[in-house]
Amino acid sequence: MHIADPFASPAVARRYADKVAFVTGAASGIGRATAVRLAAEGASTYLVDVNAEGVQETAASIAGSGGTATAATLDVRDAAACIAAIEVCVATYGGIDVLCNIAGVGGMSHVAEETRDRLDLMYDVNVAGPFSLIQAALPSLTERRGNVVNLASTAGIIGQAYCVAYCASKHAIVGMTKALAVELGRTGVRFNAVCPGGVNTGLIAAFLPPEGASGSLISRQFLNRDMQEPESVAAMVAYVGSDEAHYVNGAVLPIDAGTTTG
Ligand SMILES: NC(=O)c1ccc[n+]([C@@H]2O[C@H](COP(=O)([O-])OP(=O)(O)OC[C@H]3O[C@@H](n4cnc5c(N)ncnc54)[C@H](O)[C@@H]3O)[C@@H](O)[C@H]2O)c1
Repeated sequence: MHIADPFASPAVARRYADKVAFVTGAASGIGRATAVRLAAEGASTYLVDVNAEGVQETAASIAGSGGTATAATLDVRDAAACIAAIEVCVATYGGIDVLCNIAGVGGMSHVAEETRDRLDLMYDVNVAGPFSLIQAALPSLTERRGNVVNLASTAGIIGQAYCVAYCASKHAIVGMTKALAVELGRTGVRFNAVCPGGVNTGLIAAFLPPEGASGSLISRQFLNRDMQEPESVAAMVAYVGSDEAHYVNGAVLPIDAGTTTG
């Protein structure tokens, strides 16, 4: 079960009244569902994505439902642009309570055919982008005892065949999350990683097994053949980023129907 329209659901709380959420990857998929969920829970949302049209659409849909959203185009690979985006968010809404690093790219390949360019791309978007945004947002997050939710993956917990670059990047963001939770735990700022298994989004198209891939190596990664909807992951992000999760720090949280149990 997932909540298709959190604005229309009486089951959705208002945990984000008076909070500001900065969400990357908000043009589609999990980022869009998270933006909608947090806005429905009362957050003022600052939404960014490299897809300018998509992020405007998300903001317009939130505004149309009575929520608060500002959209901006941002390529998270651009460190200076990340700093500027955080500054604009703080100037617009007065600060940041939760930073959701959701933008991501992926793909599958035999290791012999994987390229250094694709490895660099996945690292830049999935790891370096979050790093720049976290660094820039830290003063505001510290002042407001805010938190960061990094969207990792089951590929950040277990090894997955034909995903050498993606797995490396997702393990890296999990490692960054844990390191920051330890280093900054006493400041009151929390850092957590949410790790979904198969989610029904556009990114799935990038995960076609390469020619000659072993079916048994791939099926090992899926205990449940049904995919989940992005709204289910958004609900977990909304919990982790809320004050209800005040004691959750440095956590690596699977939402994967048991895939990572072993
Ligand atoms: N779909 C899944 O099965 C799945 C599973 C585990 C983890 N994830 C992770 O969830 C996150 C969201 O992915 P999704 O499934 O919603 O896919 P998606 O393709 O719908 O969303 C990814 C978003 O990131 C944006 N993006 C890509 N490169 C960017 C850049 N350089 N700067 C800014 N924005 C950029 C895209 O435009 C897109 O809107 C990703 O980090 C992905 O790795 C997805």
